[in-house]
Amino acid sequence: MKKRRLPPFEAEILHLGPKGVGVGTAPDGKPVHVRATPPGARVLVRPAGRKKGVWKGARMALVRPGHDHVAPPCPHFGVCGGCTLQELPLSRQRALKLARAREEVGPAPWEDGVGGAPDAYGYRNKMELSFGTARYLDAARHAAGEPIDGRFLGMHAAGRFDRVVDVERCALMDDAANAVLERVRALALDPSAPVPWNPRTHEGFWRHLQLRRGADGVLVALFTASPPAGGEAAVAALADDLLGRGVLGVSWYVNDGVADVARGELARTWGDPTLRMALGERTFELAPLAFFQTNTAATEVLYATVGEALGRGHRVLLDLYCGTGSIGITLADHAEEVVGIEVVADAVENARVNAAANGVSARYRVAKVEDVLDELAGGPGVAAVVDPPRVGLHPDVARALANAPLEVLVYVACNPASLGRDREVLEAGGWVLERCWAVDLFPQTGHLEVVARFTRPA
Ligand SMILES: C[S@@+](CC[C@H](N)C(=O)[O-])C[C@H]1O[C@@H](n2cnc3c(N)ncnc32)[C@H](O)[C@@H]1O
Repeated sequence: MKKRRLPPFEAEILHLGPKGVGVGTAPDGKPVHVRATPPGARVLVRPAGRKKGVWKGARMALVRPGHDHVAPPCPHFGVCGGCTLQELPLSRQRALKLARAREEVGPAPWEDGVGGAPDAYGYRNKMELSFGTARYLDAARHAAGEPIDGRFLGMHAAGRFDRVVDVERCALMDDAANAVLERVRALALDPSAPVPWNPRTHEGFWRHLQLRRGADGVLVALFTASPPAGGEAAVAALADDLLGRGVLGVSWYVNDGVADVARGELARTWGDPTLRMALGERTFELAPLAFFQTNTAATEVLYATVGEALGRGHRVLLDLYCGTGSIGITLADHAEEVVGIEVVADAVENARVNAAANGVSARYRVAKVEDVLDELAGGPGVAAVVDPPRVGLHPDVARALANAPLEVLVYVACNPASLGRDREVLEAGGWVLERCWAVDLFPQTGHLEVVARFTRPA
């Protein structure tokens, strides 16, 4: 990003931009994107550079709140890299996110409103936190001389790999998960315990904590570097303590790599580390690190919406980018057989086990969808659901689907802009975007899920 000089300025935040940023206008007439600023508010902005005619700015102060301003419940709001919309009521968040998604997808008939679960907070069934030796403080605490160095556990500050916002409680997790966080903090950050990992020097022990809320309780995964003297005993003592407080299982992974990712070699488990999830009538047993949608209640709404878009009575349901198979298994009643394709082998293993446990007739292939285009050939009675990652469909997949004689094609988009691009290829092959639905899986963030039903005119 090219640095250009512009003194701090006040800006009206006009609408929601990419990744939930607030968009205003800089004194030079160019747009400015400011993280965690609600449309309707006036904020003081410190410009941090301009790229392709768009300023990026940091919010220095709220000059005038919007008419529907709500006080953010989390003390870390604006500093932590997570939530961006806590100052807006949920209904307004959803209206703004829908307006943006409609623009990104392009002209289409939309179902009214935004689906989702009622809970604006406490909805996350998975949270990943980082340990660190340097914390991120807001400007006021920094100016007050509070120390930076110490032992911390929380979320990375936006754009800072080396600083952790020390989080005692996360409003997106429920009470049970927050109680576990409190206990892990008490034991792992104790001065007598090994020190946390320092991502600058690549020294230290505690690296990441993953909390998962299953249908029957909380699971913990701890990621550390190779243990120093006393390290293994510290993990064992922590795991025993957590099990004594009702945690179902603890998995310990060792990771000596420099990349700041929560993975590693499984070193040991305590209790039962199986993650059990339930969606409606279906139950899922998953490996501790397996992917599962992070808002269980809203996922039920999302999959019901996918079911509505899909319709019933198909012979085959192609579940493309199927992950652990949850869409196809949940909607198995809509077809005689499910065929899933997913690149992550462990996820497919989970899908196979869960299809069998739920009595679903399913076949899975471990592959990149773009490498098995023969599976997309379609034919009488074949319907498809695609749920690609944020980048959307591989161009070869989009072209293959554009020409495939499928009964119906349902596109689940976690990035509506990707759907807006891919629909053009599909429409060039004769598909018609018949209806769109929006579902909010992530209140307090800028994300919105879009379900699109494509059909071919008779
Ligand atoms: C948005 S997730 C959807 C998961 C699943 N449908 C669900 O609802 O839980 C996208 C999935 O696509 C997988 N994936 C990414 N690129 C892929 C590719 N080229 N071919 C097949 N699967 C891919 C990812 O591993 C991930 O499981």
